[in-house]
Amino acid sequence: MSARGLVCVVLAAGSGTRMVSSTPKVMHQLAGRTLLGHVMATASSLDTQGVYVVLRHQKELIGEYLSQSFPAAIQVEQDEISGTGRAVEVSLSKIPANFDGDVLVISGDVPLMDVETLEALIQTHRSGKASATILTAVLDDPTGYGRIVRASDGQVAKIVEQLDANPDELEIQEINAGVYIFDAAHLRQALSHLQSHNAQGERYLTDAAALLVEDRNPVMAEIVSDNWLVHGINDRAQLSEVAKELNSRLCKAWQLSGVTILDPDSTWIDVQVTIGQDAVIHPATHLRGLTSIGANAEIGPSVVIENSTVQDFAKVGPFAYLRAGTDLGTNGKIGSFVETKNAKIGKGSKVPHLSYVGDAEIGEESNIGAGTIFANYDGVNKHSSKIGSFVRTGSHNVFVAPISIGDGAYTAAGTVVRKDVAPGELGMNVAPQRNIADWVISKRPGTKSSEAASKSKTK
Ligand code: UD1
Ligand code: CA
Repeated sequence: MSARGLVCVVLAAGSGTRMVSSTPKVMHQLAGRTLLGHVMATASSLDTQGVYVVLRHQKELIGEYLSQSFPAAIQVEQDEISGTGRAVEVSLSKIPANFDGDVLVISGDVPLMDVETLEALIQTHRSGKASATILTAVLDDPTGYGRIVRASDGQVAKIVEQLDANPDELEIQEINAGVYIFDAAHLRQALSHLQSHNAQGERYLTDAAALLVEDRNPVMAEIVSDNWLVHGINDRAQLSEVAKELNSRLCKAWQLSGVTILDPDSTWIDVQVTIGQDAVIHPATHLRGLTSIGANAEIGPSVVIENSTVQDFAKVGPFAYLRAGTDLGTNGKIGSFVETKNAKIGKGSKVPHLSYVGDAEIGEESNIGAGTIFANYDGVNKHSSKIGSFVRTGSHNVFVAPISIGDGAYTAAGTVVRKDVAPGELGMNVAPQRNIADWVISKRPGTKSSEAASKSKTK
């Protein structure tokens, strides 16, 4: 691309009223990322001199998220004057005054926009020497979008918003995608003339098009062929439509790269998930966040995996829930009705049935008996458990953390394991011997007395 400068402005100051939500619109989730995160990931992969994000509504919350996830972004605060035009105007005041390149504007609620489309837009704009180039789409149902009004010679004349359009204009199917590129000097000039004589009483960025045309500065339009890329999200119905489309594209891409997905309609895969070749994903499986599935692994049906790793040839499910920080080794198994969290399960080890494994490390080739609970929480603090390699634990055990079970050790069925078991030993009945009465009166400090507790129960 030429040496001409480029900055990007992302619009995220609106309140998103149509979401009817206490969460700002751009912070709603789509395939494991916020709407804004999708746009920021795309904007950040362009070669720019800065990505400016305009914030106002719940700016602390969004600002905090940006600082963590996109620290290079420059946050700009929009004042009380409303409208997309005002949003761009305040961001221009932060861009160095001598900047004379192009300004790419993207709405924070157009999450499927991709780098290729933006690069093509920049290319069209520069080769056409336009003052502005608008990304547009021709939709069967253009309801809600700004319409592109063209003059008799086919040139762009103006953009009219749905609420301000006359019946003829409402018939127009070519819409404004909310993505534009402007020559910085022309944009500054146009924005200084924006009015708010419209249905919403706002300073519309879209009015810049007509102002530029009036001054005989060429305004171009680039029509996208894939309409999903410009699908805006204003309400939750649109959010689910876009989520479904994105998911079906992600599933298709994984299928074409060698992953068997039996039922893409019931399989949900987040954008940052990776899956190895010849893995098999059964129906009703959700792969979320930074999850990685190894080659030849078999997942599901009805499995949820969040921010976890499943190594090659491992099997998960049916009906399992792998929470953050699970790492299942090669050839390992997590079976039905098992929940895991922050658990490293070594190569070839198995947790086949009805168990909870939290804050634990299990070595290689060990087997955890059915119905086992890793009691990681004593009511105040969390503790971790360590199970060695080649261990066989009995059914219905409770491992009271912190605890360590040596390599090759065994535990008997029904044991509450409170003391470490040495390598090769059998652990059984290691619970302190207490009668029921002792147990009832030994309360944690700070809880109600047993007498008060039993009184309140009999009420
Ligand atoms: C806007 C366009 C419309 C286009 C559509 C594409 C205007 C006036 N209209 O309409 O032509 O078809 O996008 O999706 O631009 N925002 C701010 N500050 C504000 C107001 C909005 O930063 O004062 C941000 C919002 O957070 C949002 C984006 O700008 O990310 C678009 O605003 P929204 O209210 O969704 O505009 P639309 O009505 O969809
Ligand atoms: Ca919108």
